[in-house]
Amino acid sequence: MTTTAPGWGILGAGGIAGSFARDLATGGHRIAAVGSRDAERARSFAERHSIPAAHAGYRALVDDPEVDIVYVATPHSHHLEHALLAIDAGKHVLVEKAFTTTGDDAQRLVDAARTKGVFAMEAMWTRFLPTMVAARERVAAGDLGEVVSVVADHSQMLDLSPGSRLIEAALGGGALLDLGVYCVSLAHAFLGPIERIQAAGVVDAAGVDHRGAAILEHASGGISSVTFSMETLGSNRAVIAGTEGVIELEPAFYAWTGFRRRHASAHGTAAETFAAELVGRGMQFQAAEVERCIAEGRLESELMPLDESVAIMRAMDEIAARMR
Ligand SMILES: NC(=O)c1ccc[n+]([C@@H]2O[C@H](COP(=O)([O-])OP(=O)(O)OC[C@H]3O[C@@H](n4cnc5c(N)ncnc54)[C@H](OP(=O)(O)O)[C@@H]3O)[C@@H](O)[C@H]2O)c1
Repeated sequence: MTTTAPGWGILGAGGIAGSFARDLATGGHRIAAVGSRDAERARSFAERHSIPAAHAGYRALVDDPEVDIVYVATPHSHHLEHALLAIDAGKHVLVEKAFTTTGDDAQRLVDAARTKGVFAMEAMWTRFLPTMVAARERVAAGDLGEVVSVVADHSQMLDLSPGSRLIEAALGGGALLDLGVYCVSLAHAFLGPIERIQAAGVVDAAGVDHRGAAILEHASGGISSVTFSMETLGSNRAVIAGTEGVIELEPAFYAWTGFRRRHASAHGTAAETFAAELVGRGMQFQAAEVERCIAEGRLESELMPLDESVAIMRAMDEIAARMR
């Protein structure tokens, strides 16, 4: 018996949607349709990525019977609305990071998916990369001892010229939602729930943060320190430090990269070099996770659980408040 791969529907034909479509092509996934607010943009996106159906408008996309999973690739401000549109149509959802703009909205999204009985996940693609799989394995094997600290920077010099969604408050612009979320998510993944937060940032007259830093105290006793900027280049490194060893994720830590693991003692003797073997950009691994969960009848991923996405958004709420 042959089974057809689930059909992906791409909601929003913007920048990251194109990267996602290219990466899915590397992994044998099936993109059934794309939907754009603009019919011509949908058509040209579909042509570029050999997608069989192009819809004018998002309603037509989520109603397409060939679409099983909707990938929400719109600005942060619209993630909740577009995820709810898909969920109401009975479709599974993979929602770009940051999951929503607030913790309350994240909870609303999660409640809707659970009520409807569909799969939902934040598209925190970093978690599913081979690098992170290996890092988690080293931690689980005790190679780092007890993990006590995470330090992460995500700083890029982005295009902030007029019209960019990044500087539009109404579109959920700002460095924290776009870039800082990777650092907070990494810290949460390796140190667990966050109890206390200190933060500072530079916020423009429109209320959009351009750069910032936060210190997070975790219930485990761990401490993380995160920096993010959308107007300067930074190290883009991350360090996961334990009592017996350390993993240094090479730049850009949030993407498909390599790491060096060192022993904590003896001036950090190198224990391992993990190299990345790139196939595409790496967004296909999160898609494979979504398909695996759905095939197994799961409504969420244990690697990116829904309650954790909500908790991360609540931490982001507090960082945002303290930056102002
Ligand atoms: N995973 C990653 O590596 C990565 C990288 C970059 C961005 N992202 C995330 O992906 C999301 C989209 O970012 P992007 O860089 O792809 O943005 P983008 O290039 O501006 O594309 C966003 C798309 O959303 C749609 N849209 C719907 N309502 C809109 C509105 N009111 N204003 C503007 N666009 C609207 C548009 O598509 P149509 O007009 O075709 O409908 C637009 O092309 C964000 O959540 C961002 O954080 C993830």
